[in-house]
Amino acid sequence: MEDRMKKTVLSPPIVLLFLAFSLLLLLPEASATKFNVGDSKFWNPNINYTEWAKGKHFYLGDWLYFVYDRNQASVLEVNKTDYETCNSDHPLTNWTRGAGRDVVPLNVTKTYYIISGKGFCFSGMKVAVHVEKLPPPPKAAPVKSGAPTLFSTGHILLMPVVFAVGAAWDAFIHFW
Ligand SMILES: *[C@@H]1O[C@H](CO)[C@@H](O)[C@H](O)[C@H]1NC(C)=O
Ligand SMILES: *[C@@H]1O[C@H](CO)[C@@H](O)[C@H](O)[C@H]1NC(C)=O
Ligand SMILES: *[C@@H]1O[C@H](CO)[C@@H](O)[C@H](O)[C@H]1NC(C)=O
Ligand SMILES: *[C@@H]1O[C@H](CO)[C@@H](O)[C@H](O)[C@H]1NC(C)=O
Repeated sequence: MEDRMKKTVLSPPIVLLFLAFSLLLLLPEASATKFNVGDSKFWNPNINYTEWAKGKHFYLGDWLYFVYDRNQASVLEVNKTDYETCNSDHPLTNWTRGAGRDVVPLNVTKTYYIISGKGFCFSGMKVAVHVEKLPPPPKAAPVKSGAPTLFSTGHILLMPVVFAVGAAWDAFIHFW
């Protein structure tokens, strides 16, 4: 009798707690975005990448994805001065891997200055991206399908869980 009651009191909160934590753990991954630089025009000359970056938010953990003709362009991270002057002589990081498909992980909160070498920077192949810390929870998962509802469910679940755990503890104390 006592055993049965203990079971019914304890099980739901534990399941809810597990669910709530699983949902919270899912969040950071769900909010990372891979930006295809230039969208359908990719990484090419005669595109204004300042316009492309305008209004976008780049967060820690996101990626930039460059798709281009591997025989022509490249992907070089430079400092601000070299970005402005299109100087590719001393890149901070050469992200060029040779396949014309390069990924730049945005894992530092700073402005990334990226240009193409071989003179293409002068034709507009340059992009500056300001990386911010992770957004606050309400903005955390606006893009990915399913994530917003999961997240709010997670939060709504937490309050009952806190009370249920308290109630379960009470019951436990009473029975033992
Ligand atoms: C690109 O767009 C930005 C912002 O609209 C503008 O200030 C800049 O002059 C443009 N650059 C070129 C090369 O047209
Ligand atoms: C960028 O690097 C060049 C060459 O190393 C240097 O002359 C310049 O001062 C640097 N600019 C910034 C903003 O750090
Ligand atoms: C960057 O790396 C690529 C591939 O290894 C290489 O072909 C290219 O010369 C490098 N560019 C610079 C500016 O270091
Ligand atoms: C960011 O990523 C680069 C390339 O993977 C790595 O070299 C660097 O150590 C990372 N920085 C941080 C702060 O994680």
